[in-house]
Amino acid sequence: MTTQTRIMMIGCRKGGVTKTTTTVNLAYELSQQGQRVLVLDFDGQGDSTKFFKRSESEFYIGDALLDRKFDINNAIYPAIIGGREQENLHIIPGRRGDVMTKLDMDMISLPRRDERLKLHLDKIKHHYDFILIDTTPGTSVLGLNAVMAATEFVFPTEYKEHSLDGVETLLEHIQDVRFIDEDEIQFLVVPSKISKTAKKALAYGEEYLSSRWPNNTAKTTIWERAVFSDAEMEHEPVSVTNKGHVAARFYKELAREVIANA
Ligand SMILES: Nc1ncnc2c1ncn2[C@@H]1O[C@H](COP(=O)(O)OP(=O)(O)O)[C@@H](O)[C@H]1O
Ligand SMILES: [Mg+2]
Repeated sequence: MTTQTRIMMIGCRKGGVTKTTTTVNLAYELSQQGQRVLVLDFDGQGDSTKFFKRSESEFYIGDALLDRKFDINNAIYPAIIGGREQENLHIIPGRRGDVMTKLDMDMISLPRRDERLKLHLDKIKHHYDFILIDTTPGTSVLGLNAVMAATEFVFPTEYKEHSLDGVETLLEHIQDVRFIDEDEIQFLVVPSKISKTAKKALAYGEEYLSSRWPNNTAKTTIWERAVFSDAEMEHEPVSVTNKGHVAARFYKELAREVIANA
């Protein structure tokens, strides 16, 4: 039996809302729960690429997007976690900002410029249960490719007006680009980096999400914990650097919820 590959764009029109943290940790926990996972790094910081220790790769996502004949398999590398190549967790690396900006500009005039990722993924997606795309906050041809290729969307958000606006704006953009209504979009809003002590923000955020997206808000909350910054410095998922810590359970829980949402 073939199951459908779930292609998730991790997005928000705001920086620093934990897109990369979500991509890396969710991808790792999904792979730990037996799923075959591919991560695509569309972020100009190359952050996911760093987490998986693939910054020195020969090929990157641009090689595929610019060239129909490029075999995208050549740009897929096993993630390196805790010093070991992962069997079920792979990455197509990104490059640093200037290279990604140039790629975006090069793509503007190309035919089928916003479908190219989808067309490439059609050739390899059957190897994976999940494909996660880490994105930038801004609009770009790369971002368009992510929106067009995704079968669903994950929006991490803090309980702040800016961050929630970032979700609203991206949702509108997806409706425009895909020419569909909000209720036709498969998406999950994930409260992330939430402080338990900021009571006002907590009340505001919970009220906003439960009234605005009662059916699309994750049951799992990713609480604010300093170990996430520590893990980021070590370029590892939290459950690798801080096994046994309460925060190591957050993304395991989210992964279980995501799998159950099939
Ligand atoms: N649950 C959390 N608690 C505390 N800090 C977090 C948490 N999740 C992420 N962070 C930190 O917040 C910062 C922004 O996260 P990042 O994933 O890079 O955001 P984005 O990719 O959206 O720009 C990083 O320094 C990261 O380590
Ligand atoms: Mg990022």
